[in-house]
Amino acid sequence: MKTPRRLIGALFAGALAALLPDAARAQGNLTVYCSVQEEWCRPMMAAFERATGIRVAMTRRSSGETMTQIRAEAQNPRGDVWWGGTGDPHMQAAQENLTVEYRSPMLDQLHDWAVSQARQTGFRTVGIYAGALGFSFNATELQRRRIAAPRCWADIAQPAFRGEVQVADPNTSGTAYTMLATLVQLMGEEPAFTYLRALHRNVNQYTRSGAAPARAVATGETLVGITFLHDAVTQKVNGAPVEIVGPCEGTGYEIGSMSIIRGARNMEQARRFYDWALSAEAQAIAVQAQAYQLPSNRNAPIPPQAPRFENIRMIDYDFARWGSAEERTRLITRWEREVRAGSR
Ligand code: F6P
Repeated sequence: MKTPRRLIGALFAGALAALLPDAARAQGNLTVYCSVQEEWCRPMMAAFERATGIRVAMTRRSSGETMTQIRAEAQNPRGDVWWGGTGDPHMQAAQENLTVEYRSPMLDQLHDWAVSQARQTGFRTVGIYAGALGFSFNATELQRRRIAAPRCWADIAQPAFRGEVQVADPNTSGTAYTMLATLVQLMGEEPAFTYLRALHRNVNQYTRSGAAPARAVATGETLVGITFLHDAVTQKVNGAPVEIVGPCEGTGYEIGSMSIIRGARNMEQARRFYDWALSAEAQAIAVQAQAYQLPSNRNAPIPPQAPRFENIRMIDYDFARWGSAEERTRLITRWEREVRAGSR
C-alpha cells in the first residue's frame, strides 16, 4: 500500500517542481559579507534570491572589520562572497591570498576604472561602484551658531569646529582609511599627520561605520561629518538640512569592490552572485535603496543625485600603493599612535 502512495507523492512533487519557475526551486545557499549600508544589502540579497532561488545568509560589517573577519576565518572560511566596501581592504585581502581569482564574463560591460581594479589584483577583486570623499554640514545649526560655511579640509580643522566634527575609525571603516590615504596623497605624509592631529581636537567621536557621521549631521548631533559624499546625499534626499562639500584642496575617492573568499563552500553560487551583481539590472537596485554611488556597469542608470567627479576636484588616487597590505597597515598604525592616542 505504502509504495504506490509514495510513488504518487514523488510524482506529484516532481510535477510541481517542473511547473515552478527556476527561481522558486532551491538552488543551494550562499553566505555574503556585505559592507555597504544595511538598507542596500537587504534588497540586493532579496533580489538575488528571487532571481536565482539561491538562499542567502548575509552579514553586514564595515570594510575594515570584514577584512579582519575574513583573515581570522582563513583556516575555516565561513563566507563565500564579500560584496561592497571600499577597494583598499579588498586589495589587501587579495594580496594576503584571502580571496581568489575570478574573471567574470561580465567584465566587458564595466567601466575601465572597475576593470583596472580587477587587473591590479590579478582578478581577485572587481569594482562595483565609485564615490568621492568629502564632508557635509548641518546648515541650520551652522547658521544658528553663526559659523561660516566650511569649504576646505583646512576649515574643519579650525578652532571654530572644536568638538563638532565626526568621522569613522580607520581600523574598522574603509571610509576613514580613504580619508587617511587621501590626505597623505594630497598634502604629503608629514603635513597630513600634522593636519590629522589638529583635526583630532575637533573630533567628537570616531564611529565604527563610515556613513554614521552623515546621519549624525542630519540630526544635528554633529555639525560636520566626513564621509563619502553619496552618504550625505541620502540624508539630503530625505529632507535633512545638509550641505555637501567637495573640499577645495581636492579629495580622493573609493572604488567599492567585490571579491570571492578563498575556500568558499558555495563556489558555484558565489560566481552566480558575482556575475549577477555586475549586471546593470542588479546595480539599478542601488537607487531604490537610496544609495547614490556611480555604478560600474556602463549600462546601469546613474542616479541623478549622484555626486559627479567632474564637479569635484579629484586627486589621482593610487590604489595599488595605498591598497597594499604594507601601506594600509603602516598608515593605520601610525594614525593609532600619533593621532588617536593624542589628547584633545
Ligand atoms: O554604503 C555606503 C558606503 O559609504 C560605501 O560607499 C562604502 O564602500 C562603504 O559604505 C564604506 O563603509 P565603511 O566606511 O563603514 O567601511
